[in-house]
Amino acid sequence: MDALLLKRHVDARARHADTRRLEALLDRIIPRPDLHARFVNTLARLEYVGVRKMVKSRRAERLDLDGLQHLLDEAVHALRLKKAASALAASGGAAVTTFADADTLAGEAGEAYFQALDRRAELALAGESNGAVTDSARAEANYLLTSAAIEVRAQAFYPVYEHRLRAHGAPFSVSAITKDEDRHLQEMSERLQALLGPAPRDLDGVLAEEELLYGRFLAALEAAIDVAERFARGGAPAARVA
Ligand SMILES: [Fe+2]
Ligand SMILES: [Fe+2]
Repeated sequence: MDALLLKRHVDARARHADTRRLEALLDRIIPRPDLHARFVNTLARLEYVGVRKMVKSRRAERLDLDGLQHLLDEAVHALRLKKAASALAASGGAAVTTFADADTLAGEAGEAYFQALDRRAELALAGESNGAVTDSARAEANYLLTSAAIEVRAQAFYPVYEHRLRAHGAPFSVSAITKDEDRHLQEMSERLQALLGPAPRDLDGVLAEEELLYGRFLAALEAAIDVAERFARGGAPAARVA
């Protein structure tokens, strides 16, 4: 089994131009607690959407101890990030009560990224005309393909975020989350190969789509920051960009 199946993609993303773009974006967000609170709340929302998808897609007959632990880990990530967002909001005068768009930074765009990715995995599997594939196996393969792409992104994203948090002397860390995501990445590598073989056919297409969707999400974040900065400079309160 190829233990590095997904790790190689994490390394490729680290070298991608979007990493520089993310750093530049974080350097605009982190110094402003109001913006930062909403951004961290967006991350909490994404972790929550991950939990919701797992609960919906994983059939009881396939759920083992690791699967249950994964679900709980993502719920804990959502909770930790929500608490960090609330603390930042208290110091920055922002409200992050719910995951509604006004309480997040490009929160709708973040959720759209996740939903579109899941849909892409679903379409890839629907295109396979193998009548022997059961609904249960298809649901599991869909979960694995989407989760693999999300875990690759998480392992490309959180270390960069942690580095920028330390550079700005931010009052919290995401290193515990990174540790969990590393374990999840390994788990997804193993499960994907166990279910779909040593070179999962649809994986590259789903990962390529993820890169595209992530770029769109970054663009939505950039637009939301532009609006907030314009407003802070005393400009007209433009409509919030999702
Ligand atoms: Fe997570
Ligand atoms: Fe994860």
